[in-house]
Amino acid sequence: MTSGPDGFEFIGNVLHAGPVNLEALAESCGTPTYVYNAGVIRQRISALQGAFAAALPPDKQPLLAYACKANTNGAILRLMAAQGLGADVVSGGEMMRALKAGIPADKIVFSGVGKTEEETTAAIQNEIRQINIESAAELDRLIDLHPPYPLKIAFRLNPDVEPGTHAKISTGQGGSKFGMPADEISNLMDRARRHKNLLPAGLSVHIGSQLTSLDPYETAFRRLADLARATGAKTLDFGGGLGIVYRDEKLPDLKDYAGLVRDILAPAAMELIAEPGRFLVGAAGILLTRITHLKIAPDRPILILDAGMNDLMRPALYDAVHRIVPVRTTTAPQMLVDIAGPVCESSDIFARRQTMPAPAPGDLLAIMDAGAYGASMASNYNSRPLPAEILVDSDKCDVIRKRQTFDDMIKDEIIPEWMAE
Ligand code: LLP
Repeated sequence: MTSGPDGFEFIGNVLHAGPVNLEALAESCGTPTYVYNAGVIRQRISALQGAFAAALPPDKQPLLAYACKANTNGAILRLMAAQGLGADVVSGGEMMRALKAGIPADKIVFSGVGKTEEETTAAIQNEIRQINIESAAELDRLIDLHPPYPLKIAFRLNPDVEPGTHAKISTGQGGSKFGMPADEISNLMDRARRHKNLLPAGLSVHIGSQLTSLDPYETAFRRLADLARATGAKTLDFGGGLGIVYRDEKLPDLKDYAGLVRDILAPAAMELIAEPGRFLVGAAGILLTRITHLKIAPDRPILILDAGMNDLMRPALYDAVHRIVPVRTTTAPQMLVDIAGPVCESSDIFARRQTMPAPAPGDLLAIMDAGAYGASMASNYNSRPLPAEILVDSDKCDVIRKRQTFDDMIKDEIIPEWMAE
């Protein structure tokens, strides 16, 4: 059996991940649990590759450097490696994960404003493809580290563009901590050229995440291409940011996105790199959770789940809305509810005023589109163990991260000897 177009579909009355019955899965694995469908990830990769293949000649196909931060599970990274993807990493930890998963070093790009000396040294030692630098201070550091071979570097442009997404996931506007203005980059490239083992080969840009319009991309790409022409930079890394449908967002056509790359960036570049994160994994995951209590409150009933903001931070952090669907369809009358987690914070709310068939404690719900920035941002807040993660791939269904135990959670804590007795 193959998975449906969105990978999570009702078979009879029960929601399935591909062929896997989510009620049965919750029974055997417990909740809360992230469940991913590998087929969806492959579909998204081929949709993006297909759009670029149709728009650009073979020698201009972008390297897809998966932005690991979206979902860093080792099995997901292996899946990316098997599809030939590279990785965009933002820490030494992500770099090690990508290498361990078999992503070749020459497909790894290192982004981020705060690489430490140890992280930069590790990137040089591992001979990764390129380091995207974000400040003059970072260039000074690289000069001091004397790379033993011509190290490719790219400079991240701050294109001063409003990406039109949530403020906390916007990065391309002037004054943000990300990237540098064009004139500063020109000067730094000249400086870098004076050092024989620094190869100021490229430019990068990333203006924000969950973008639903191509307009800000267009402006940012034009500024990137102009700077490439002015500086002779030949590798253009155009970041990630493509939005997905969480509710009813109207998204740009991939064909038009690839068209912008063809029309604006390709003529100015010899080599292109993209850093998609959410687009590849967001729709491929759900968070499976059980209703712990149905709390009768003055305004309307509140469903209290066994998943909280520590498991999925997006609603609390960015007011993000994820669809929430009962795993079993019923004919119960519709009811208006709020849906909250158990964490002791007012922000631990997943939905307000949602209509759903009258739920009962013990019922299972699926929080949809939780494959990106879900598990990778989970924490132990309120001393809640990290959730389990499961990967469904056609007829295979595997635990790819065990549920954390209480002992796992405290194993690195040390009680000073004088307190022990
Ligand atoms: N490249 C760079 C340099 C980035 O900083 C990011 C994301 C990406 C690529 C991938 O962006 P994507 O294609 O996934 O939009 N936690 C937030 C999203 C933060 C994104 C941070 N940077 C959320 O849950 O919405």
